[in-house]
Amino acid sequence: MNNKKVVVLAAGQGTRMKSKVPKVLHKLLDKKMIDYVIDAAKEAGADEICAVVGHKSAMVKAMIGESVSEFAVQKEQLGTGHAVMQAEKFIGTEGDVLILCGDTPLITAETIKKLFENHKNNENSATVVSVKLKDPTGYGRIIRENHSFLKIVEHKDATEKEREINEINTGVYIFKASDLSESFKELKNDNAQNEYYLTDCLEIIKEKGRRVGVMVARDENEFLGINSKLQLSRAAKVMKRRINEYHMINGVTIEDPDNTYIGKDVSIKPDTVILPGTVIEGKTEIGTDCVIGPNSRITNSIIKDGVTIQSSVLLSAEVDNYTTIGPFAYLRPNSKIGEHVKIGDFVEIKNSTIDDGTKVSHLTYVGDSDVGKNVNFGCGTVTVNYDGKNKFRTTIGDNAFIGCNTNLIAPVTIKDNAFTAAGSTITFDVPEGSLSIARAKQVNKPGWREKKED
Ligand code: UD1
Ligand code: CA
Repeated sequence: MNNKKVVVLAAGQGTRMKSKVPKVLHKLLDKKMIDYVIDAAKEAGADEICAVVGHKSAMVKAMIGESVSEFAVQKEQLGTGHAVMQAEKFIGTEGDVLILCGDTPLITAETIKKLFENHKNNENSATVVSVKLKDPTGYGRIIRENHSFLKIVEHKDATEKEREINEINTGVYIFKASDLSESFKELKNDNAQNEYYLTDCLEIIKEKGRRVGVMVARDENEFLGINSKLQLSRAAKVMKRRINEYHMINGVTIEDPDNTYIGKDVSIKPDTVILPGTVIEGKTEIGTDCVIGPNSRITNSIIKDGVTIQSSVLLSAEVDNYTTIGPFAYLRPNSKIGEHVKIGDFVEIKNSTIDDGTKVSHLTYVGDSDVGKNVNFGCGTVTVNYDGKNKFRTTIGDNAFIGCNTNLIAPVTIKDNAFTAAGSTITFDVPEGSLSIARAKQVNKPGWREKKED
């Protein structure tokens, strides 16, 4: 069994994006457009992927990184055929090679699998995916003779009559590696754009008497090529709808799918409700019976069951069962929140563990801290973790009670069952079960007002 080899074309600049960022690195929702293409190829069983890079290749390479097996560099962008030629060594002469464009992120693994099957079943030398469009302007047209493939003519090279054809080349193909490599030798650039067209390889192969097939796809959305920011937003909308529908079919309630943005790699269990204005990104996992939103952003976080998150931001955080977050809470990286915890309004947590049953209800900063079970934070508590040079940890034992407006100057430990009086600035450890008062004693001066006004 041959390996499934894939070449992804990503050398173009994408002039019409009007951006300093290369086209394939622009994002739909939380992922770069080329990542969707690579993921679809992998899901369809690809095991060797070569990305052809050129424009700002160092940047593209760094951003794609390990997700492909190798890169080929196209120094000058002389056309799609020329781009594929740069991967000649990777393509070799064994088996087949799938060609995908880095700027068509809506392609699905199902379509790629069908293409592999279609190509194999028909014993083709090359198979191209076509689709019929109401408006085929700009695309290469599939020219047929007695219903079978003859050649592809680019819009710019097409005659008036050829331009009337609405079956277009999607830019997705499988070639028998040896036939593709052989066709490179005959590839010319005598066309309107003076480019080496990959599409001409099909004609060259056909002329050699080998079989070139066309697989007609149904969903034109899958092949939306992105050339401008306008097309990017259209494709993002299709992707957003596709992802939201997937979750709704799986039993997640999404109150307003037009106004909910869920990344492709997010998982959500049934009976969770997502309210409008919610953005869920990265490798976030959400359990069952949660209520998320409205107006929340959750990135790379793990949320267990029965959790409520309202108008809050969570970055690389973990939240255990039946905890409530927000409104207006900010959980920063490496925050681990236990079960039945309350993180209330205007509370920021950073790099801290908060154990089960603890309440941090209002206006509090907890940074670099280890907090036990059933601790109560009074309003306005601050863990003072930074001295201008270094960060220090605060430790708080089970059942401790932190009075309102307490500063805990780290490094410091509040032992189990200890109390701190409201308004205290705690600079050294508080033993188990004790009350610590660290504030000036109140002094009342009777009649002071009258004396002052005299
Ligand atoms: C191409 C096809 C056209 C098809 C359309 C589908 C050719 C000649 N034409 O046209 O038939 O209908 O796609 O979307 O193939 N690229 C390189 N190096 C180059 C040129 C392009 O890597 O020298 C890459 C681009 O980065 C892009 C992809 O190839 O990812 C497609 O190139 P593009 O210029 O957009 O081709 P189209 O004109 O859209
Ligand atoms: Ca294109």
